[in-house]
Amino acid sequence: MTFRTLPSLQIGNHQARYPIIQGGMGIRISGASLASAVANAGGIGIISAVGLGFNSPYYDSNRRRGNFFEANKKALIDEIQKARQLSPHGIIGVNILVAARDYPDLAETAAANGADVIIAGAGLPLQLPEYTAEHPEVALVPIVSGVRAAQILCRKWKRNYGRLPDGLIVECPKTAGGHLGAKYEDLDSEALNTERVIPELATYLREQVKAEIPVIAAGGIWDREDIDRMLAKGANGVQMGTRFITTEECDAHPRYKEFHLQARPEDVTIVPSPVGLPGRALRNAFAEAAIAGSEDLEKRCIANCLKTCACRERKETYCIIRVLDRAARGDVENGLVFAGANAGRAQRIVPVAELMAELVGAHSQSSSTA
Ligand SMILES: Cc1cc2nc3c(=O)[nH]c(=O)nc-3n(C[C@H](O)[C@H](O)[C@H](O)COP(=O)(O)O)c2cc1C
Repeated sequence: MTFRTLPSLQIGNHQARYPIIQGGMGIRISGASLASAVANAGGIGIISAVGLGFNSPYYDSNRRRGNFFEANKKALIDEIQKARQLSPHGIIGVNILVAARDYPDLAETAAANGADVIIAGAGLPLQLPEYTAEHPEVALVPIVSGVRAAQILCRKWKRNYGRLPDGLIVECPKTAGGHLGAKYEDLDSEALNTERVIPELATYLREQVKAEIPVIAAGGIWDREDIDRMLAKGANGVQMGTRFITTEECDAHPRYKEFHLQARPEDVTIVPSPVGLPGRALRNAFAEAAIAGSEDLEKRCIANCLKTCACRERKETYCIIRVLDRAARGDVENGLVFAGANAGRAQRIVPVAELMAELVGAHSQSSSTA
């Protein structure tokens, strides 16, 4: 089947050759290696800033609650520098969680250390322009659930900072991997389905805001057909997470990639999280225990990392940093392995350049070649 040529994607001052953003994936699933490979292949590579300090030489676990925040900052600077060395001319961004206590600090650090783009999710980043004010060249891209959130954000940013977002990402709770921006009972809601929200949001931005703000679709996007479908709905680009996990350059432990490769559709499940949002992940011993609400899960707070945390405040769920880190280092049974609904569709681990060539090529035979 022949497809038309993909358009480029303009985000602020940055023009990506292809309209593909690799979604930020924490902890250390998308670091400098994956982000730079995607950037070199013409997409936008994103480093996830979540908990980078924990598995870094800067973290001192002997101190009370460690020096987590200081380590996060230093490790983020390292990761941006590494990505920049590997991709001197590519577009490199940083993903930051608004729900994290050190979000303002990380945003400032990312902007001051050469990030081209900052993507902020898990909460509305109402004050983000304030944290990056000294670096207006950095493009700011919030993740929103729909028109209402976009409206609040555009109004506040315009009024308080005289600027608008450089792009908006809409993530589909029915398919996306990681934390989901909807309550458990709303995950399948048609009103939140990206294919419905994208045209609504594009119309709102064009007619009410009267600005050309690119809209990015995320969640469940796997192949060229999915990309074309989203562009046809009015999206200017896509953000993809799960598909980039089974690549050679993905920063996760090889066992993590292998676990994704071996997954079957029925292994994808929903787990509760201390953040207060459900998360989509692969079924394993840890996920079973989390779903069952096991008392045995480790509840000691190691870093005071979240503004609101069910584990720290009520001894419910588990310590998110600990389990994400454990999985990323290869303990795929006792760690939290986030995954989108498409997990398991990959046939083998491929270089990012090969995957990108498949996604952007004029010809695409099938989605199962990688
Ligand atoms: C392993 C994993 C970790 C993720 N971590 C983050 C994160 O730290 N911050 C964030 O905003 N989104 C995170 N996400 C969401 C992705 O950035 C992306 O939006 C999502 O994976 C898109 O859905 P897809 O996996 O179906 O492509 C994560 C997703 C996965 C699979």
